[in-house]
Amino acid sequence: NIVHVILSGGVGSRLWPLSRKSYPKQYLSLFKEGSLFEMTVNRNQGLCNQVIVVGNKDNNQLSRGVMESNGVDYIDIVESTPRNTAAAIAFAAFAAKSDDILVVTPSDHVIVGDEGYSKAIQEGIEKANQGYIVTFGIQATKPETGYGYIEYKGDQVLSFREKPNKETAEDFIERGNFLWNSGMFCFRADTLLQELQQFEPRVYATALAAWQHKQDGVLDEALSKEIPSISIDYAVMERSKKIRVVATDFTWSDLGSFESMYDYLKETGHPTDENGNMVIGTEVFSAFVGLRNTILVYTKDAFLILQKESSQDVKKIYNTLERHQ
Ligand code: GDD
Ligand code: MG
Repeated sequence: NIVHVILSGGVGSRLWPLSRKSYPKQYLSLFKEGSLFEMTVNRNQGLCNQVIVVGNKDNNQLSRGVMESNGVDYIDIVESTPRNTAAAIAFAAFAAKSDDILVVTPSDHVIVGDEGYSKAIQEGIEKANQGYIVTFGIQATKPETGYGYIEYKGDQVLSFREKPNKETAEDFIERGNFLWNSGMFCFRADTLLQELQQFEPRVYATALAAWQHKQDGVLDEALSKEIPSISIDYAVMERSKKIRVVATDFTWSDLGSFESMYDYLKETGHPTDENGNMVIGTEVFSAFVGLRNTILVYTKDAFLILQKESSQDVKKIYNTLERHQ
């Protein structure tokens, strides 16, 4: 049994004010093909025979709307508070049978190239059947600090390093044998749970307690707050000896920050001025004087002006601005 697990509980805080807590970026109609969430569902339909969505109670109606309008049956796991990806993935593994293969994907990435995608997933499923935890690697092209880095040789993973600092990322790029972690994974449910239990026993135990006390698919809030907030990358990928990598050849962007959104938009024809400045979200005439690589983000109740290179810092504003979320 092959299960597509969609992680949809993140808020996309580095894309504030486009992305909001009540309306995260995966549900925005950024593209004519639909939202990123919808494209994620469709991309995996032919490859998996069951779907689990792990989302948040604040935007549960958004994922349900997409699933219903596409006529897709699924298991809905609703978190009452986000506890990061180690827990979110554990919930999906608890819901699955122990020998199910889980294909875990974020819901907020752009992927172009269906054939390359299918090939990669099929390769991942084969390795997962052999007891490995499979990551999908992307050709690393610049020292981006928001990604995980996979040091590799063939399908062997020599090391995994989540979100290195700039210097370390530059060193990795220079050394050349590193891939970016796409944030997609494939494994048997029992393989992942064994590793999680070994490396993060508290996450495992508290997540299991919240899972066992769910009501109508909604996880218990008080018990959920006991779950340490840690991503699967730190919890398992950096530590497990069972990791393998599939190097992919599709076009990928996580649109995770305004810098990656800028790169993607620029590549696909969105205009910039002669100094590399870009406007997102409005047709209103705008001009930049004496500025370079600046991004103006317009929404109906908030503006953001940022230097492209400072994109990772947008999260800080989001975190201090509860009222705009
Ligand atoms: N259900 C649920 N609950 N989903 C979550 C939660 C949560 O608490 N937190 C995050 N997610 C979802 C997000 O919506 C997203 O789809 C996915 O899990 C990954 O979380 P991010 O917060 O976007 O992670 P990241 O971008 O910082 O880093 C990950 O992705 C990079 C590639 O985009 C890591 O896996 C990196 O190693 C990787 O390079
Ligand atoms: Mg992300």
